[in-house]
Amino acid sequence: MKDTIRQLIQQAITQLVTEGVLPEGLTPAIQVENTRDKTHGDFASNIAMMLAKPAGLKPRDLAEKIIAALPAADSVSKAEIAGPGFINFFQNTQALAARLDAALSDAHVGVRKAGPVQRVVVDLSAPNLAKEMHVGHLRSTIIGDGVARVLEFLGDTVIRQNHVGDWGTQFGMLMAMLEDNPDMLKSALSDLEDFYRAAKKRFDEDPTFADRARKLVVDLQAGDEACIKAWKSFTDISLSHCQSTYELLNVKLTMADVMGESAYNDDLINVVNDLKAKGMLVESNGAQCVFLDEFKNADGEPLPVIIVKADGGYLYATTDLAAVRYRSNVLKADRALYFVDQRQALHFQQVFAVARKAGFVGHPMEMEHMGFGTMNGADGRPFKTRDGGTVKLIDLLTEAMDRAYLLVKEKNPELAEDELRSIARVVGIGAVKYADLSKHRTSDYSFNFELMLNFEGNTAPYLLYAYTRVAGVFRKLGTDFSQVDGQIILEAVHEQELAAKLAQFGEVLGSVAEKGTPHVLCTYLYDVAGLFSSFYENCPILSADTAAQKQSRLRLAALTGRTLKQGLELLGLETLERM
Ligand code: ARG
Repeated sequence: MKDTIRQLIQQAITQLVTEGVLPEGLTPAIQVENTRDKTHGDFASNIAMMLAKPAGLKPRDLAEKIIAALPAADSVSKAEIAGPGFINFFQNTQALAARLDAALSDAHVGVRKAGPVQRVVVDLSAPNLAKEMHVGHLRSTIIGDGVARVLEFLGDTVIRQNHVGDWGTQFGMLMAMLEDNPDMLKSALSDLEDFYRAAKKRFDEDPTFADRARKLVVDLQAGDEACIKAWKSFTDISLSHCQSTYELLNVKLTMADVMGESAYNDDLINVVNDLKAKGMLVESNGAQCVFLDEFKNADGEPLPVIIVKADGGYLYATTDLAAVRYRSNVLKADRALYFVDQRQALHFQQVFAVARKAGFVGHPMEMEHMGFGTMNGADGRPFKTRDGGTVKLIDLLTEAMDRAYLLVKEKNPELAEDELRSIARVVGIGAVKYADLSKHRTSDYSFNFELMLNFEGNTAPYLLYAYTRVAGVFRKLGTDFSQVDGQIILEAVHEQELAAKLAQFGEVLGSVAEKGTPHVLCTYLYDVAGLFSSFYENCPILSADTAAQKQSRLRLAALTGRTLKQGLELLGLETLERM
């Protein structure tokens, strides 16, 4: 709808240029916003205020001329001047109703991608396999998964890449530990974190152990068979831990999406040689580096991107350069989205710049670092266990389910134990995910169990409950969303407000896909739930005045139910029919 209005305004501007009211060569960004107060129209534009100066007119006078020049359109019933020179547009409720009727009978809820479909690499999760997943891995995993789901829903081909840290010095330590106690493999399986800590302790305290660990890394890199075998058994265990966490989290990642750092080992020498051939490598203190003019430190000195260390070892950036090349040339991606901590922003700017300059991006590919802030504890400080350690993700999720269990049990003491447990899983995991997804990803946020498990406010329990209310209407009738005949008729203001919101679903998903911001979808679903509840209180459904009105209201409820369910699914939240 906003696009339609933008086009109408553009046509009016072109018309006013031919009439000489506006000068030629204007290319304003036409802004159209949803209004809050629907009694003054559904959409507003400030275009007359933007162009008043070049036109040499007062904003209200120009607004009047623009309105006069607007071509007629089915979807708009009228346009009016408001305030200092805004133009307010009223949508034609019949056209809106027809659109929603079509959406209700469409498997895709009437949503289509606005632009061409693309191949998109989504780089997400990527824990370091030497340790167990901790809370720091939550954000990349679930924000990346949410955006990937939205892209897929819009028709893009999504290629998930789990760039796990499965190579490097920590593995030497773990292998040395395993060499000494082969039967520890079992305990490593049950508690990777303890195993890592024990190995780290020995590494720090026992120099012969440390030397052996370093030697094992060299052997591993040289392809020693026994070392590779030990390393493999280790990364397998670690990946199976990750996999069970992904399943619990309802995240669409499988072993097939794993493309870890080690996968690029053989290509690193080619990266180095190609950079050398391009004349981009410079030796600095024994290391091989690339210097780019655009990256300088505070003193104005160029910052190096280190490609090969003085001891011959490769770096994080070297692997990422190989990955860029693979994603562009082999995967033929049009876009690559990196869901990685904001603190790595400079790293990605450098990698992207070096890759472009070196010609590694053979197939045209947009590269976007979708950074995110830190998850802090309820006190606003970095999230830690009582004794200052990192919190294992699995412990956090277990606590969420336990807390949800108590809440659900309090509300429904009559439910059977297994049903309580399964509702608690959906609510607990959903609460953790939603609390994270509903914040703008670039800001830090405080993790707070009480807030996220609250049934009031912009929370998962509130939305899940709102969905059960819609589903309840149909359960009472013994039907479901797909079985409502009739036609949507928009009369009451609460019907119109809900309808206008429902019609924005596609536009909202488009913005999530473009900017990688699932919080926009959360806010939208929260608004839908709120408008549904006003509609439900003010517009009786089952005791409507006429049969046609009843059917219309049922259809609006059905579309609300489908939108909430689809929206929550795109965020990676399961829904419940009752709770
Ligand atoms: N393993 C890295 C870390 O824990 C994240 C990797 C992100 N992806 C990438 N292509 N660098 O910090």
